[in-house]
Amino acid sequence: MEKNFKRTLITTALPYANGPVHIGHLAGVYVPADIYARYLRLCGKDVVMIGGSDEHGVPITIKAKNEGVTPQDIVDRYHGIIKESFKGLGISFDIYSRTTSAMHKETASEFFRRLYDKGEFVEKTSMQLYDEKANQFLADRYVTGECPHCHNERAYGDQCEACGTSLNATDLINPKSAITGNTPILKETKHWYLPLDKWESHLSKWILEGHKEWKTNVYGQCKSWIDMGLQPRAVSRDLDWGVPVPVEGAEGKVLYVWFDAPIGYISNTKELLPDTWETYWKDPETRIINFIGKDNIVFHCIVFPAMLSAYGDNFQLPDNVPANEFLNLEGDKISTSRNWAVWLHEYLVDFPGKQDVLRYVLTANAPETKDNDFTWRDFQARNNNELVAILGNFVNRAIVLTHKYFGGKVPAAGELQDVDKAAFAELAEIKASLSENLDTFHFREALKDAMNIARLGNKYLQETEPWKLAKTDMARVETILNVALQICANIAIAFEPFLPFMSAKLSKMLGLEKLDWNTLGASDILAADAEIAPAELLFEKIEDDAIQAQIDRLEKTKEDNKINSWTPAPQQPDVDFDTFMKLDIRVGTVLECQKVPKADKLLQFLIDDGMEKRTIVSGIAKYYAPEDLVGKQVCFVSNFAPRKLKGVLSQGMILSAENADGSLVVCGPTGPVAPGAQVK
Ligand code: 2FM
Ligand code: ZN
Repeated sequence: MEKNFKRTLITTALPYANGPVHIGHLAGVYVPADIYARYLRLCGKDVVMIGGSDEHGVPITIKAKNEGVTPQDIVDRYHGIIKESFKGLGISFDIYSRTTSAMHKETASEFFRRLYDKGEFVEKTSMQLYDEKANQFLADRYVTGECPHCHNERAYGDQCEACGTSLNATDLINPKSAITGNTPILKETKHWYLPLDKWESHLSKWILEGHKEWKTNVYGQCKSWIDMGLQPRAVSRDLDWGVPVPVEGAEGKVLYVWFDAPIGYISNTKELLPDTWETYWKDPETRIINFIGKDNIVFHCIVFPAMLSAYGDNFQLPDNVPANEFLNLEGDKISTSRNWAVWLHEYLVDFPGKQDVLRYVLTANAPETKDNDFTWRDFQARNNNELVAILGNFVNRAIVLTHKYFGGKVPAAGELQDVDKAAFAELAEIKASLSENLDTFHFREALKDAMNIARLGNKYLQETEPWKLAKTDMARVETILNVALQICANIAIAFEPFLPFMSAKLSKMLGLEKLDWNTLGASDILAADAEIAPAELLFEKIEDDAIQAQIDRLEKTKEDNKINSWTPAPQQPDVDFDTFMKLDIRVGTVLECQKVPKADKLLQFLIDDGMEKRTIVSGIAKYYAPEDLVGKQVCFVSNFAPRKLKGVLSQGMILSAENADGSLVVCGPTGPVAPGAQVK
């Protein structure tokens, strides 16, 4: 049963400030959260939307070390970029703060201390890897070594990227500290653990019995965690970056980033509403909604609720956690380290004024029930075929006709005919479905509903053809354009949560000052005689070259990644001298060189091998102009069995070295040598 609520607290996962945000973050968390917040505000509801940067954790310290700067430098840089870019996309946070704020440090510290004082933690000692040279314990990411599963020698202590297995640093064969290269020792360390097992039945009842309405992906993950049995989780780390553990004798220890980050939601609410924040967290008539990506489910549905329950003091648990799946990019997993992403701050520069296009595409393609793919071609098609051709087109026609026939004033409606009544009846149906979909976090479907209003508008104009009636029945044209303009006003309201920039522009054209969801569906939003501004295009076509530039950039990233991740091929088994000598490698001088007809990879050489002229065909045409090789000396295998390539008999093999990107460089002596000299 729907709970009665007076206010809604929306939280959005705090993105790590070790890189900018990308479309995966947006589609998973921030665009849906923003749609929801804007919708509730339009409904006149009391709502706050909380955001902020997650500025602790090991990856930030690693990035700082790699760049030779402090972790604070890193988070200052990315917090700034992230905050600005969210603003640029119109994500309407009521506050966007950060976990290095004084308010957060104090709040997180107090939270830990209260749990500590209440005896909610268990203390445990364990053996951890320790770098004696650097005098510090090593977080799993700071250890590299051989993977015990696939024997990749460059596995990280938390994961082997070659075989994908999750690891503990102590599993690695021959572990090395990433800081000094030293072999770490095992040393005893003490940490505080939150006994999740103690909260298991409480959580099970709350979620598995009490929240069957949650999305199946979220409910299912919670169920499988609970079914496996919950274990105590360490909430502190040996690290010098984070909120210090506020307990005597805990020097050099900080709160685990996943302990302090969700408390950031509370700290940021406090910063926003110093006097009333408690009503948003502790009043049962507040509804808390956590927008997150699927990798955060366990922390929001199990760990943080256990923390809040342990704290007591009437902290409320979330009513819903509408986690999304992942968005891929052009068929590949988005990756910050591989630069495989569309970065928001870059998008805003490359596509100025097109914030709503990205918001539209990410919502239309939102990974609500399964992973989804973003492609630039789909982005272009949705803009050109949907935003321009359906939405922009309808609004433009209605406003242009109003100017043509009525000098830019809303004509008065006469008596409504069946076709007009049918349009409003359909609008009422759309509103019901749209509201229902928004209430239940089905934003893709909701956006389809909103688009159906524009479709309805186009159909209405097509059916009523006011441009034909203008010659004979102006009174009827007045009614038709009144209806069309009312549909435009409905569009301004219905799309505000999704496309706020378009909605603001359209509202301005229509002279609508305040939008109100309660008036959605109405046939009298615009008063007769109200002034309509001249039509401005709401969307414009995106041309192929803008799209191709983005595709080219991704192609280049792919090439760069190949080069960066290149490692030499493994060495072949040993051969003895006699075996080596069986290969007769010699130096020859290139006398002639030309392309082999109808074979774009092949070059045909005439080589002076000291005794005669021989023909050799080699697959290097992509990398050399034939004339550049004439006169050069090359090494070739002279006793390579002759074979025919594209009809040419090749008598030997020219040696080339292969670059990371697959390009080939011909090998030759570094000084002049008599043709026919043997290479040994
Ligand atoms: O996964 C992440 O990007 C985390 N920084 C999310 C934290 S959500 C909350 F707990 F702050
Ligand atoms: Zn492995």
